[in-house]
Amino acid sequence: MREASAKLRLVVLISGSGSNLQAIIDACARNEIHAEIVAVISNKPNVFGLQRAKHANIDTHVINHTQYADRAAFDAALSRQIDKYAPELVILAGFMRILTDHFVLHYQGRMLNIHPSLLPKFQGLHTHRRALEANEKEHGVSVHYVTPELDGGPVILQAVVPVVPEDDESTLAERVLQAEHKIYPLVIGWIAEGCLRLDERQGILLGNKRLLTPLVQRHT
Ligand code: GRF
Repeated sequence: MREASAKLRLVVLISGSGSNLQAIIDACARNEIHAEIVAVISNKPNVFGLQRAKHANIDTHVINHTQYADRAAFDAALSRQIDKYAPELVILAGFMRILTDHFVLHYQGRMLNIHPSLLPKFQGLHTHRRALEANEKEHGVSVHYVTPELDGGPVILQAVVPVVPEDDESTLAERVLQAEHKIYPLVIGWIAEGCLRLDERQGILLGNKRLLTPLVQRHT
């Protein structure tokens, strides 16, 4: 388990608005989590998340995937930039690129993603639309360790939100996003405190107990 004296060094990867990034910035600033964001990297220029990072005096970088010959070259450049900051944890926060196995394995056990569904349901895109089409009564969000299987790594914590009859894609997305902003900093905080880690067999250890099923919170 990690020594919890120094702040946990985070590098956050984004592709867009960065509202999850903001939630993590705020949780660090309020000392709710013993962590610091040492860099924010976007694969897209000019996204709002970069402004949020600059506003918080965090180093930012754009590594534009369109300027690389293939996925491997992009991932290599991304990983070079990340590793300059020697982070203990890499946070995917709305980072909309599929990563090579080589990249993922390099960060295995040190990289988290947040996915807007109750995994294993609705892996991939358009999760809110698909939940509505499937007449789900509940939907939600999952924070998981990243493994080579897309949206398939061990799930740590899920927040369940209700689906109400009036919902459309955007109202449901907004309700899920509110839950995202609560649970992502929470999980990062557990890792910062040294209470949570992934073992060699991809089992989640919370304290000295193995987590057999994801933790679940119910949100309104
Ligand atoms: C979130 O819904 C997240 O779960 C998904 O992409 C969205 C990113 O939103 N992976 P933001 O950029 O954090 O506002």
